[in-house]
Amino acid sequence: MILDVQQLVKTFGSHTAVAGVDLNITAGEVHALVGESGSGKTTLARCVLGLIPPTSGTVHIAGRPLAGLRRKELRRLRHQVQIVFQNPYAALNPRMTVRQLIAEPLREAGRPVTDVTAELERVGLPATVLTRYPHQLSGGQCQRVAIARALAVGPSLLVLDEPTSALDVSVQAQILNLLLDLREHSDLAFLLITHDLGVVRHIADRVSVMLHGELVETGPTAQVLDSPQHPYTRRLLDAVPGLRPPDDTPPSTPAAATAQGALQ
Ligand SMILES: Nc1ncnc2c1ncn2[C@@H]1O[C@H](COP(=O)(O)OP(=O)(O)OP(=O)(O)O)[C@@H](O)[C@H]1O
Ligand SMILES: [Mg+2]
Repeated sequence: MILDVQQLVKTFGSHTAVAGVDLNITAGEVHALVGESGSGKTTLARCVLGLIPPTSGTVHIAGRPLAGLRRKELRRLRHQVQIVFQNPYAALNPRMTVRQLIAEPLREAGRPVTDVTAELERVGLPATVLTRYPHQLSGGQCQRVAIARALAVGPSLLVLDEPTSALDVSVQAQILNLLLDLREHSDLAFLLITHDLGVVRHIADRVSVMLHGELVETGPTAQVLDSPQHPYTRRLLDAVPGLRPPDDTPPSTPAAATAQGALQ
């Protein structure tokens, strides 16, 4: 088990953002986390990354508790979980070239900086972008650099917080295919936060549905999307044409075909 979260609670003053969440992710798994805005997805992710301390509950990464570790141990454990944010332009230092941006985490992980080109190749970028700055890259290229940076330290779990919502639809599909490709060639697990149930259907092994700080439903993707148990999950699915289970779905409409076609 790469990630094991138990009874995690995070409050901000009197507001409970995460209200007792259990979540586990195994090696190589793509685990999607969906839920309306403000339901606590990012807060949960920040606790998993050790960026903020939980109010109560535990986070274990590869069997080791995140709390109570000495500084050096914590740093090593933190390398195991990396995050990719929604807006790659905001996440990358605008004054650094792609070469510098990727060399930085390699150095931190004690790996030879000569690997920069190999890291770029892994995310499908040509060596010609090495000397460019973030503003000279497209959104998709920028997100690939952010992913390369996250992968450079050799994580076991990559947390992606709405990694494609700031990108054009065609670029979104390319980034998702990159993630699938990365998974095929490694044991890397993903916690993918997204609002897009089409994306969940396309790439997730399991999905958890969050509402008001709680996970109201968790299960294999097909099971949750085809026979949702919780009313909130049903509402989410109803909002997206073409995603309902076959027996509830009206005959295919042009809108449904488009929603699915966007992911091909
Ligand atoms: N640092 C903070 N201080 C106070 N309240 C916070 C803080 N971070 C988050 N919250 C609150 O906690 C709740 C959950 O926020 P969070 O960002 O985790 O939601 P989310 O599911 O990621 O939403 P979105 O889909 O919009 O990104 C919200 O009510 C938010 O206002
Ligand atoms: Mg969020």
